[in-house]
Amino acid sequence: MAGTQGPGATQADQAREGVVQAALAALDLDAKARLLGGRDMWSLHALPEIGLAPLVMSDGPIGVRGTRWTADDPSIALPSPTALAATWDQDLARRAGTLLAQEARRKGVHVLLAPTVNLHRSPLGGRHFEAYSEDPYLTGVIGTGYVQGVQAGGVGTTVKHFVANDAETDRFTVDNKVGARALRELYLAPFEAIVTNAHPWGIMTAYNQVNGSTMTEHRYLVNEVLRGEWGFDGFNVSDWMAARSTTGTIEGGLDAAMPGPRTVYGEVLADAVRAGQVKESTVDDAVRNVLRLAARVGILEGAEPVVADVPAEIDGEALAREIARRAFVLVRNENDVLPLGPAASVALIGAAARDARVLGGGSATVFPARVISPLDGLTAALGEDTLTYAVGADPSDELAPADKGFTLRAVCRDDEGNVLGEGNLPSGQVQWIGDDLPDGVTHETMASIEVVGTFTPRESGEHSFGTRGLGDFTLTVAGEVVFDGSEVMGAGSDPFEAFFGSPVERAKVRLTAGETVEVSLRHPLDRTYEAPLPGVVFSFVHLGPRRDPDELIAEAVDAARGADTAVVVVATTERVESEGFDRQDLRLPGRQDELVRAVAAANPRTVVVVNSGSPVELPWREDVAAVLLGWFPGQEGGAALADVLLGAREPGGRLPTTWGALADAPVTRVGPTEGELAYTEGVFIGYRAWEKAQVTPVYAFGHGLGYTDWTYESLVVEGTTATVRVRNSGPRAGREVVQVYLAPAANDGDRPARWLAGFAGAEAAPGESVEVRIELPRRAFEIWDESTNTWAHQAGSYEVQAGRSIADRRLSETIAV
Ligand code: BGC
Repeated sequence: MAGTQGPGATQADQAREGVVQAALAALDLDAKARLLGGRDMWSLHALPEIGLAPLVMSDGPIGVRGTRWTADDPSIALPSPTALAATWDQDLARRAGTLLAQEARRKGVHVLLAPTVNLHRSPLGGRHFEAYSEDPYLTGVIGTGYVQGVQAGGVGTTVKHFVANDAETDRFTVDNKVGARALRELYLAPFEAIVTNAHPWGIMTAYNQVNGSTMTEHRYLVNEVLRGEWGFDGFNVSDWMAARSTTGTIEGGLDAAMPGPRTVYGEVLADAVRAGQVKESTVDDAVRNVLRLAARVGILEGAEPVVADVPAEIDGEALAREIARRAFVLVRNENDVLPLGPAASVALIGAAARDARVLGGGSATVFPARVISPLDGLTAALGEDTLTYAVGADPSDELAPADKGFTLRAVCRDDEGNVLGEGNLPSGQVQWIGDDLPDGVTHETMASIEVVGTFTPRESGEHSFGTRGLGDFTLTVAGEVVFDGSEVMGAGSDPFEAFFGSPVERAKVRLTAGETVEVSLRHPLDRTYEAPLPGVVFSFVHLGPRRDPDELIAEAVDAARGADTAVVVVATTERVESEGFDRQDLRLPGRQDELVRAVAAANPRTVVVVNSGSPVELPWREDVAAVLLGWFPGQEGGAALADVLLGAREPGGRLPTTWGALADAPVTRVGPTEGELAYTEGVFIGYRAWEKAQVTPVYAFGHGLGYTDWTYESLVVEGTTATVRVRNSGPRAGREVVQVYLAPAANDGDRPARWLAGFAGAEAAPGESVEVRIELPRRAFEIWDESTNTWAHQAGSYEVQAGRSIADRRLSETIAV
């Protein structure tokens, strides 16, 4: 790669490097050690003596949250990473990145903690929605576009989580045992591709261990592979609270330990140098990497930032909508039920049709200024006369942070009850870590928090109210104290209980639709508890009246019967798909399967929209007319859905991951045994494994229909360039994703039957034919040779296969290399 000093370095790189060197030379040991330990939750220390401003980081990947967990500073929410990958479009990923850089600059953020390029090793991975694909090549292509886009806007990225953070169970401690071939050919491959092609300015090392060493101390993978072999010259930041030791970590190539202020660096690191345990030159290497990043993003005096002129302004809402419709994957469309005719009446059904789940939970959360649900989108497109709505089934009967109908703020008081400050809340969830506090409030002075405001119910009936988190709570609804008690931390309680624990119902109150009541939850803070980070995390939770589930389904069936088409939106919930835990199964929660079956029986024109970040089982799929996979579609999802259902646009996505039932899924172990999780499947994950097992999945990797048809006319391979001619043989203009797979003729079973070697988008009008050229990368012909520890070119005969998915291959040509 073009390093900062090597032969590829530009004059600007060299000039920046000069400023970095001079700044480094001007720092004493204490200042250097201070720079490497976080200042607070999201930033590093400023060093005014060298003109260095604090470097600010923020999550990532679908938006830029900024430094506070609040809706006061909203962010554009793009579709989930699985959706971005479903576009199979590097340029769109680049535009997404450029928009995110614009968001970052608006929020004073210098580094975006993204993209997540771990692989979909198993569909049970809880954070599956946040990664791109089961295929390392597709992941690398999308990740490269994303990083290029963000950095073209002058903002850094940290490609994460390096490496093999493919599941959530015991993620802080699990030791993933991964063979060298699988590591190189699968898990490291996207990182390598992105480092080589996009030169990211940062990387984030994971919580987990790989082959016995925790990733924040992994000398071999960080110093030798990432920096040595691949020439990475960026900044290595720990995942949050992942750095555990001072010497091991600095020697393992970790530049910054986040978050602060209590870290393994800072004074402790300076002392370790003084005690002779760490060489000062090792500290200098890390400081140089941090300063280089600071120079690149323009916060080190005297250094020209890499990007002087920022790209033209992007309309974030329009881009969110475009990505969503380009990502929707139409997997079934019997008798061309979609697109719907212009005058069609629609019965829209499903809790998620009204309260869409637009993003996945955990650190990827952002707070968009608006969310367009399917109900909003279809109402705007169709008008109210042709649309009816029924809930049908509620996927969750668990209380969730108070949201729809609530207007809440948090009031912080001191010991005497004086108000120190207050802030608006995005929902009933209070999550203030580090300095993320309302103005005028500090952790030292704050003695209690009151979540207070109003609630205007949508439905009459018994509303449940409750709490999530630990400590004392007083809950008041409509002027009455309905609960006054506490939740204590038991011995062995999970320290993340407040984030991921179960909500507890405290009271039921009968309320009337449309009548506003006052609500309050008071929470005195337990200041005897020493948390690893200063923070306050608890929730005011609520659940609307529970209707008789049979009645709900019956209502939906009636609505479906009375309309030309029934559109059912089914969804997962935050308790099913989120950071922090893995999934137990792939079933749709609640009675949604039953709902779909009942609606389909009542209306043969039933279209199901699946609102999930990752695969779910669709046991009724053969009984419905159409199935559209909608992912977590971002804030404009409902508008995009109306665009594709009504045919203003075609759903453009192709599956970035195989969909199948859990019982057939090849890799289902995501939890360790005695601390270890062996990747015994080697290189066989995703379609590589489905093909090996000779099991046909529900929907194959690469599958997606769109609204037109494509004829594959010719395939010519010259050297390693495949030229594919396709004709739009359907009724309307469209875009095809031409996929090229490589199948080795000689295969003694240790190589997959075939793998994705390239792809390209082709756009054509009806009847028009177009040609795409696809370069087959050298790496597609190589395997990692474990005996020599190098890439080994595999000479021989290969079939180059071009098609619409891995299962729908239309043309092939044999080549010898
Ligand atoms: C996640 C990271 C994230 C960080 C900061 C961690 O728990 O694993 O992806 O960037 O928190 O929010």
